[in-house]
Amino acid sequence: MDLKVLPLQQPKQKISDESQLAFGRQFTDRMFVMDYTVGRGWHDARIQPYAKFELDPATLVFHYAQEIFEGLKAYRRADGSICLFRPQDNIARMNLGSERMCMPPTDPEFTFEALKELLRLEADWVPHSEGTSLYIRPTMIATEPIIGLKSSDTFTYYIILSPTGAYYKNGVAPIKILVEDEYVRAAPGGTGEAKTGGNYAASLLAFRKAAEAGCDQVLWLDATERKYIEEVGTSNICVIRDGKLVTSPLAGTILDGITRRSILQLAKDRGIEVVEQALAIDELFEGIQSGVITEAFGCGTAVVVSPIGQFTYKGDTVQVADGQPGKVTMGLYKALTDIQTGKADDPYGWVVTL
Ligand code: PLP
Ligand code: COI
Repeated sequence: MDLKVLPLQQPKQKISDESQLAFGRQFTDRMFVMDYTVGRGWHDARIQPYAKFELDPATLVFHYAQEIFEGLKAYRRADGSICLFRPQDNIARMNLGSERMCMPPTDPEFTFEALKELLRLEADWVPHSEGTSLYIRPTMIATEPIIGLKSSDTFTYYIILSPTGAYYKNGVAPIKILVEDEYVRAAPGGTGEAKTGGNYAASLLAFRKAAEAGCDQVLWLDATERKYIEEVGTSNICVIRDGKLVTSPLAGTILDGITRRSILQLAKDRGIEVVEQALAIDELFEGIQSGVITEAFGCGTAVVVSPIGQFTYKGDTVQVADGQPGKVTMGLYKALTDIQTGKADDPYGWVVTL
């Protein structure tokens, strides 16, 4: 398939003060788009000016949420070059999700080339300051205008880019977590492992509850017993127990986070034993209270590594150690971000330079 590059008439004004960059509110000049039709496959791949879509009100995605998305980042290095972190992993995960959501896979090589071409054209949008990056949001939506429930015969895949600062407005300040004991995010056999909009829609009410309780995020428990910790709203969760890193196993209900994978590898290579094991909420609280659990953090592309300062569950709040970012957490944060931004060597082949 050819990739067309359509002309850009009017570049947008960029935010000149990078300290003002919020998460995901401003988008670059161009986007990548391609369309799919059953029987024809992917077609009309193009890089075009960032623009609104015109969609019929009956379009399937509006009604039945047949959609998937991804999130990855491009980083500016000190020498001005731009790099991506494990981009092929995102493309592969999106193809896995597409299977679950009855959507067509993309050709990973073509999609990757299209992403790189888009980034080359939008290179000026990658911010320079510490902690900033260009957030990349590949998305696929069902576009057939029909309100009968079926899998769409047409889809649009697109990639948009957003220069971005820290996800949480307080940067790496420890976050407060509300453990959700009423609503669930994903049940066995559901779509928890897919990065699909419905999972996030289902989480909004719990987010609201958390915000009303003065918390920054939700910690989900398993849907069957409401007993085991699963993941945080927009990240996976790790705790340091007895010096070991403990994290929920990939059992189909949580996202197989690319940051999680990277953190587990970095931890192992620093001599930290990694335990992928279901941790009960009572064990979490008891461990924190007895001092066996000394640190907790969320990890994900948007939040990077975010220390957790306290958990609230059924009205009880525990502070993790002294409530400040832990040593292991910050060590892993530094190891990860140093590789992502080129400050440290990448022995893993995770970084792709544009
Ligand atoms: N879990 C959820 C629900 C997420 O939204 C994210 C973010 O993408 C993650 C985990 C972490 O995944 P990743 O590290 O691939 O960004
Ligand atoms: C990401 O970390 O890329 C995410 O997708 C989180 C998003 C819901 C803001």
